[in-house]
Amino acid sequence: MGRQQLLNPKLALITSALLEEKDYIPTIAKATNDLFHLLMEITQLNPEEEILRTPVLLPDGKGIGPYWAAMCINDMMRTKKFVRGLFCAIQAAQQRFPGIPVHVLYAGTGPFATLALPMTTVFTADQVQFTFLEVNPFAHQMVQQTISDFGIQAFIREVVLTDATRYIPIGDVHILLSETMQRALDKEPQVAITHHLIPYLHPEGFLVPESIEIQAGLLNPANEITRMQDFINPPEHYIEYLQTIFELNQYTSRSFSGEFPTTDLVVSAAQAEKHPQLHLFTHIRVFGKEVLTPWQSGLTLPKKITDLHFQNQTHLGFSFQYLSGDTPGFHFRVLE
Ligand SMILES: C[S@@+](CC[C@H](N)C(=O)[O-])C[C@H]1O[C@@H](n2cnc3c(N)ncnc32)[C@H](O)[C@@H]1O
Repeated sequence: MGRQQLLNPKLALITSALLEEKDYIPTIAKATNDLFHLLMEITQLNPEEEILRTPVLLPDGKGIGPYWAAMCINDMMRTKKFVRGLFCAIQAAQQRFPGIPVHVLYAGTGPFATLALPMTTVFTADQVQFTFLEVNPFAHQMVQQTISDFGIQAFIREVVLTDATRYIPIGDVHILLSETMQRALDKEPQVAITHHLIPYLHPEGFLVPESIEIQAGLLNPANEITRMQDFINPPEHYIEYLQTIFELNQYTSRSFSGEFPTTDLVVSAAQAEKHPQLHLFTHIRVFGKEVLTPWQSGLTLPKKITDLHFQNQTHLGFSFQYLSGDTPGFHFRVLE
């Protein structure tokens, strides 16, 4: 029996577990663990090799090394929601663009094109076509090996070694897919990639993730253990949300030009007494019902901004702005 005949049924089994509508944690944990080991085994990616752990430093943020990109699979809810979200987005694009293959532009594939690979077991090459972009030469080389190991060349238009913030796509893009982010849109170039590529997305096309919303809010660190042991209330029960400070979706992304908007907010001494830490919370709508909420994934862990210290004031004001550049992320200042 050929190698692909052995590999593809394993991938199909993993995919069907990841595409289940319900979130049953043991199933998701097994599927992501199996996927990680399958891909590590076939590519023989050596975790000890320093070069595979080294980031590519780009003008708009860092591209994490291929080993860390591979490890993203183990962020199990991330992988599950993105795989199912992409599946639903392709189905929606098939409805919207009938009779032609859906073209997915995937910016930042890592060594395995983790989010696209499962789609090759549930769609045909007549139904979906991918263009892969990757900036890391080692990840770019490995993704080509992954394509040939699984024999999925028919699904792939092109595999381009490029910085996605400089790439000009050819032809219609029906889905623009990228997961080049950390919590609170820190350090990696998700915003710059989306901003650069969004004009090339068909006006009726889909951005995946559909929306990334950053909200400022308050936490009480003394409640952390209670939150982790609470099986009745959802984790968000422990957050006192203040306001949204940024939303990345295809409409905001098309409208950004020059500087990103500044958002001011106010915290009262009474609020800080109950919840004395200011944080940023990340909500990701991958597609439709596929969402990641705070603490569900590494991408949605709260980011602590500051402890709140009041002297004689009744209120403190803060101003937030997303700044692009080689270490992108939110900057804040206390308002006088
Ligand atoms: C967080 S990993 C995700 C890998 C994979 N897509 C997944 O979801 O498991 C991001 C990948 O995007 C690549 N990347 C980051 N910035 C990029 C850019 N500007 N252009 C192309 N690739 C980029 C990195 O090198 C890395 O391989």
